[in-house]
Amino acid sequence: MNEYCAKYGLNEERLPRHVAIIMDGNGRWAKKRLWNRLKGHRAGADAVDAVTTLCREIGVEYLTLYAFSTENWNRPESEVSGLMELFKEFLVSKKGLLIEKQIRLNIIGSKDKFAPELLKLMNETIAETKKYEPKMTLTLALSYGSRQEITTAVRKIAKMAADGEITPEKIDEKLISENLYTFNMPDPDLVIRTSGEYRISNYLLWQIAYSEFYFTDTLWPDFKKDEFIKALKDFAGRERRFGKTGDQVKG
Ligand code: IPE
Ligand code: IPE
Ligand code: MG
Repeated sequence: MNEYCAKYGLNEERLPRHVAIIMDGNGRWAKKRLWNRLKGHRAGADAVDAVTTLCREIGVEYLTLYAFSTENWNRPESEVSGLMELFKEFLVSKKGLLIEKQIRLNIIGSKDKFAPELLKLMNETIAETKKYEPKMTLTLALSYGSRQEITTAVRKIAKMAADGEITPEKIDEKLISENLYTFNMPDPDLVIRTSGEYRISNYLLWQIAYSEFYFTDTLWPDFKKDEFIKALKDFAGRERRFGKTGDQVKG
């Protein structure tokens, strides 16, 4: 029995194995206080800490956080550069903790637009956290877009076919999954989006085919332990049918 599950009143048997979060509302959180949007992003980093710690405590194996979309490159230059700075700070300041807690860092998205310094930091942190058997995997979706991910996979598979490595008949769901950035992860069981927005914004389109969704009006910087526990309890009460009838699933 996991002592933290007991402490938080969570049923260990009904925990999601993979939680994916669309961390939204940092800008509005700052605006409400008449602050610069970047202050909202900074406050959002504290919520990342809270949610990661809780996952590690209770035994959620995969946590995937949408931190920057391919579309977010279209934001004002000052916000984009402020966010890049924040990602750097995050990597530097959290590396020790990730190692101490045996959390593996993974980054999904297209790497081609990042500054060399940030890329280097990412690769170093990923390598450092690969040295042990992970108790949990924290994935940051950075410069991530699902359509771009699927397009890249299709291109790779088409090349395999053109090179004669496979015949078109060999293309199945498994091969497609294996060519996505998430090839080594189970699909998300639970997707959470904060800030009262009800959309997917190009996040994990293939992977969320059978995920449960949880939406909350809470802005991301305010989404702390209690809010997360509420979402997990809600998830625990869901019946996942995967196309079957309710009776089949219960029986
Ligand atoms: C989410 O918060 C963080 C990123 C997209 C980087 P937003 O910055 O989208 O916050 P709102 O939606 O403007 O409030
Ligand atoms: C989605 O949030 C991306 C991240 C959370 C990083 P946005 O706030 O950018 O989404 P849209 O554009 O409003 O849908
Ligand atoms: Mg937003």
